Amino acid sequence: MPSEPDLEARFVALTRLLADGQPLWRPLPFQHRATPWGKHAPGLAEALLALPDDAVERLQAAPFEASPLAAWLPVAELAEAAALPDLSAGGAALPEAWGEGIGARKWRQLQAFAGCVAPAEGESLVEWCAGKGHLSRTLARLHGRPVTGLEWQAALCEAGQALAERQAQPVRLHRQDVLADDAGDWLEPGRRVTALHACGDLHARLLELAAERGAAVSLAPCCYHRTEASEYLALSRRGRALMAEHGLALCREDLAMAVQETVTAPQGVRRHRQRANAWRLGFDRLQREVRGDDAYLPVPSLAYGRLPDDFAGFCRWAAERKGVALPATLDWAAYETAGWRRLAEVSRLELVRHLYRRPLEVWLGLDRAWRLVEAGQRVRLGTFCTRELTPRNLLLETC
Ligand SMILES: C[S@@+](CC[C@H](N)C(=O)[O-])C[C@H]1O[C@@H](n2cnc3c(N)ncnc32)[C@H](O)[C@@H]1O
Repeated sequence: MPSEPDLEARFVALTRLLADGQPLWRPLPFQHRATPWGKHAPGLAEALLALPDDAVERLQAAPFEASPLAAWLPVAELAEAAALPDLSAGGAALPEAWGEGIGARKWRQLQAFAGCVAPAEGESLVEWCAGKGHLSRTLARLHGRPVTGLEWQAALCEAGQALAERQAQPVRLHRQDVLADDAGDWLEPGRRVTALHACGDLHARLLELAAERGAAVSLAPCCYHRTEASEYLALSRRGRALMAEHGLALCREDLAMAVQETVTAPQGVRRHRQRANAWRLGFDRLQREVRGDDAYLPVPSLAYGRLPDDFAGFCRWAAERKGVALPATLDWAAYETAGWRRLAEVSRLELVRHLYRRPLEVWLGLDRAWRLVEAGQRVRLGTFCTRELTPRNLLLETC
């Protein structure tokens, strides 16, 4: 189990690696027609563009294994600094009946997470941003003690309360905005606050309050980019100092990279996403030519299932949103083909970002851990399940 000095060494190493790699991992290849990283890493783009499809898929799934990028980038160092201990309890599966009303994957995630939460004698449990309180009910059953769930949506509180009562579990769902001034009243010494996949500002607030009040925490953070601030201000003093020392700067868009991993998406969803991306790139080529301006034009994203039926329909929708006047006749097939060709290039160039994705996520986990260390808490940071079950598998715990 890594001790705090180990975590600190990792924090320093990752800050340096991320800072040094900024010119390579920050640019978004789909926005650039030329090599996105300019004169850095000569020859890297050519090597990536020559990769066969199966190598691209392999490296997307396992960026650190047998990577040809190692000739340019510190692959082994990144892998070592980002490898976290497995904290999963490996306990027996919980009875299926406990998972009633919960999706199969979510239930497996909940079992893995709940199995890691080990409240001390007499410690009471609180769930932060509880939704319908699925985790609260599981914890109540597993540890045989009352759990308080905090959730701001009244409808979720009501539905969750009804579920808890039907299953005769001692769970109380309270309507609470966790960002409101009175949210800290739920955190006091003697309480352990649990949060599974709480987004950016919501889990940052939990850590602030836990640091101030000394509550214990079991947190699986998620969606770091869901935050008010457009420029990332490290939660810990150590994080802020390291960023300044190494010249690492992170904006909201950079934080989104930390959660862009799709290993768990079903085949159909992946294919749909690919088509949407190819069409976006086809439209990008088209809009540059039509506007006579060789610059990327951001197009809003479309919810799953809202993608028009064909490429022409997509371009008409995007053109309308962006105020681009399209000519009456166009060779749609040629632009669509150009989009698919460009997607093949972009997915190869994005392998660089894949390599830095997990290191960035672990760095953000370390910054959160360090906020608690600076408040005098003892912490451990590791994973609570495999990334196949959920890539958002970091667990930060006070112990
Ligand atoms: C990503 S879900 C996580 C739910 C649950 N922990 C799970 O894993 O299924 C986030 C939950 O946070 C709630 N939420 C969002 N903002 C909140 C706030 N300011 N205060 C309390 N709950 C909030 C949402 O309504 C939603 O139920």
